[in-house]
Amino acid sequence: MLQQRTIEIIKSTVPVLQVHGEAITSRFYEMLFQKHPELLNIFNHANQKKGRQQAALANAVYAAAANIDKLETIIPVVKGIAYKHRSLGVKPEHYPVVGENLLLAIKDVLGDAATDEIINAWAEAYGVIADVFIGIERKMYENAGWEGFRPFVVTRKIEESSVITSFYLEPEDKIALAKFKPGQYVSIKMDIPGQVNTHIRQYSLSDAPGQSSYRISVKKESGTDAVDGMVSVYLHERVKEGDILHLSAPAGDFYLNTDSEKHVVLISGGVGLTPMVSMLKTVASEQPEREVTFVHAAINGQSHALKDEVRDIAKASDHITTHFVYESPLDEDLGYTKRGYIDQAWLKEILPLKDDAEYYFCGPIPFMQVINRALLALNVSKENIHFEFFGPASDLEKESIKA
Ligand SMILES: Cc1cc2nc3c(=O)[nH]c(=O)nc-3n(C[C@H](O)[C@H](O)[C@H](O)COP(=O)(O)OP(=O)(O)OC[C@H]3O[C@@H](n4cnc5c(N)ncnc54)[C@H](O)[C@@H]3O)c2cc1C
Ligand code: HEM
Repeated sequence: MLQQRTIEIIKSTVPVLQVHGEAITSRFYEMLFQKHPELLNIFNHANQKKGRQQAALANAVYAAAANIDKLETIIPVVKGIAYKHRSLGVKPEHYPVVGENLLLAIKDVLGDAATDEIINAWAEAYGVIADVFIGIERKMYENAGWEGFRPFVVTRKIEESSVITSFYLEPEDKIALAKFKPGQYVSIKMDIPGQVNTHIRQYSLSDAPGQSSYRISVKKESGTDAVDGMVSVYLHERVKEGDILHLSAPAGDFYLNTDSEKHVVLISGGVGLTPMVSMLKTVASEQPEREVTFVHAAINGQSHALKDEVRDIAKASDHITTHFVYESPLDEDLGYTKRGYIDQAWLKEILPLKDDAEYYFCGPIPFMQVINRALLALNVSKENIHFEFFGPASDLEKESIKA
């Protein structure tokens, strides 16, 4: 338990952290990687360069500091981060290393303002926060489908659209696949020729659980800011059937609640459809009477992945409705419901909007912001809204978050 004085110091430094938070975490990463270059094998370099990871860590530290006397209120947030840590292989022995460098960074950025009393208070508080993470992660490691990164054979590689390709993955050891919940992801650790470090990325499982293989569906991230996506481009261009990929066990707190009978609304933009297809297929096979509305936005028919698979599932059921929205349909595109973008007025027309429905969505950040705002404006309660970020989690209600 922390002393009352420590709690007071921590709480009074939250506004200081809010001003300097990202400067502190940027400095922290600089020092961390200088002293522990081996950690570059688990951190995502693109997120670092774009500042997204810095922002995520800073936000987590503010949240923890503001709630230091009632950490139980941030447990749901900790769980999401802990799943990510578990899937990356973050271990208890990493925590003191991070703590030590975080304190050095605070000292460095705040200078004389960081008195011994403040630094000692933060050292104590960090220990308490780290113990919460370590405790939750320990249970996650115990319950994980397997330990570490396991070799999987690419048994099929299927082009699903002009930008998205699926990989079917079977464990090399032929031992049964671990169960997963529809919406969860796996981490893949890639050793790319010519690269000094390994690169780990998350991919949502895009098929229903209970198959003989896992399926991931990957968008080729090429050309943005003249820098190609490291892992997705390698997967598209180099990885072929018969190759081995190393996966950690399924993880993540974004998954379909299959104990619920409520109408379920699945909304996706672009490659954000992968967890939604897993959820759709699960409902279709396990809860065939449950009402589903599946909404997907794509640029046009060419970039629309898994179209026939979704259509066939919907055709076979009286309880599944699909809506496809194309930003710029091609002349040959047929069967889309709406041209342009999803907006609040249209959602109001097509959605059940009963408070006994559950809403799940995933897509690019600006897309998710629009959906989130629209659902809240249409009086959907927050507990019925669930979403996934294909990058470090952030706050959708903030005006500007890094894409
Ligand atoms: C929970 C979760 C589930 C996910 N599920 C899926 C999924 O099902 N399918 C899927 O395709 N993806 C998914 N992702 C995203 C995936 O993990 C990767 O982030 C994605 O494939 C891009 O990785 P990359 O290595 O190809 O690109 P990176 O090399 O990581 O680059 C990412 C982006 O940053 C840009 N970039 C890189 N370096 C720089 C730089 N120096 N300056 C400026 N910009 C730069 C690149 O152009 C690219 O647009 C998921 C992510 C998460 C967190
Ligand atoms: C109490 C201490 C810690 C806090 C508050 C914290 C917080 C976070 C947050 C908020 C994220 C983003 C989660 C997301 O993707 O949505 C994250 C990711 C991550 N964390 Fe931690 N973390 C802590 C300790 C550690 C430790 C000890 C390590 C290991 C060295 C670590 C390694 C990572 C890595 C590798 C990622 C993913 C980075 C990326 O893909 O961009 N973290 N952490």
